[in-house]
Amino acid sequence: MQTVKLNNGVTIPQLGFGVFQMDDLDECYQAVTEAIKAGYRLFDTAATYGNEAAVGRAIRESGIPRDQFFVTSKMWIQDYQGTRPQKAIDQSLTELGLDYIDLYLIHMPYGDVFNAWRAMEESYQAGKLRAIGVSNFSPDQVTNLMLFNNIKPAINQLEVNPWNQQQANVLFNQRQNIQVEAWAPFAEGKNQIFTNKTLQQIAQGHHKTTGQVILRWLMQRGIVVIPKSVHQKRIQENIDVFDFSLSETEMQLITKLDQQTSQFFNPHDPEAIETIVNGGRPGANH
Ligand SMILES: NC(=O)c1ccc[n+]([C@@H]2O[C@H](COP(=O)([O-])OP(=O)(O)OC[C@H]3O[C@@H](n4cnc5c(N)ncnc54)[C@H](OP(=O)(O)O)[C@@H]3O)[C@@H](O)[C@H]2O)c1
Repeated sequence: MQTVKLNNGVTIPQLGFGVFQMDDLDECYQAVTEAIKAGYRLFDTAATYGNEAAVGRAIRESGIPRDQFFVTSKMWIQDYQGTRPQKAIDQSLTELGLDYIDLYLIHMPYGDVFNAWRAMEESYQAGKLRAIGVSNFSPDQVTNLMLFNNIKPAINQLEVNPWNQQQANVLFNQRQNIQVEAWAPFAEGKNQIFTNKTLQQIAQGHHKTTGQVILRWLMQRGIVVIPKSVHQKRIQENIDVFDFSLSETEMQLITKLDQQTSQFFNPHDPEAIETIVNGGRPGANH
């Protein structure tokens, strides 16, 4: 597996497995077990997904040493205040059934983010977390966090896919030596991404699928990817992306697909922020 070194020296696989919307714990356990068999070692869960326990169980029962895995989880907004962040980290550790978490993220950039970050810094220093980072942070929010704290985020997990390429945000993070990780690399299939003509033509030229071309395009931009699937064939397909590469011309053809807009929500839109903070899913009608 190709790896990337984070700004604190910790190594992360460049391709991993996301488990968002795997609400059924048996299904999640099965999917993670399939993914481990297929060769995935990076797993991306979150407290709010409600499936940390299933991810942890699949990892523990795999028989593969713990240090071969890279486990990510995230703190949700209601846990940012007061003494709650420390409890949330301990709760994630308990749910996962692990002694440490490889990467812990602030899931959304709202609420008492500074309090959450300082608790994460403490847990990092205590060895409970090997790396800490953020998600859905804009350049100004990352800058603000960095200016008033000790530890720089190792990762910024952002929505990046052909419809929402995030050129400026990705460049900002790369210049800061903050690793970008793409959530919804396939835009969850929205806007007919898997049957897009440009992507299909590129895929045919390499005897690959459109999904594989998307993952390759992201990795060639230096981004870590965490596609999700509950289907064995797709789980295998999505990791089979290390035996081809896209030409500069092909990369540019995909650049032209950018709609510079999210298929889900704009994390900086006041209405979306209110919906998220109140426990809803913005753009759930899409
Ligand atoms: N930080 C955040 O705010 C945030 C937000 C969203 C997601 N995430 C993380 O990012 C991960 C990935 O994002 P995501 O799950 O939202 O969406 P995604 O990976 O872009 O897309 C997943 C969808 O694509 C389908 N799919 C997967 N591989 C396919 C293939 N090869 N061909 C055709 N269809 C395929 C899946 O269907 P099947 O499962 O039916 O195969 C599923 O419906 C999440 O699981 C989560 O870990 C983070």
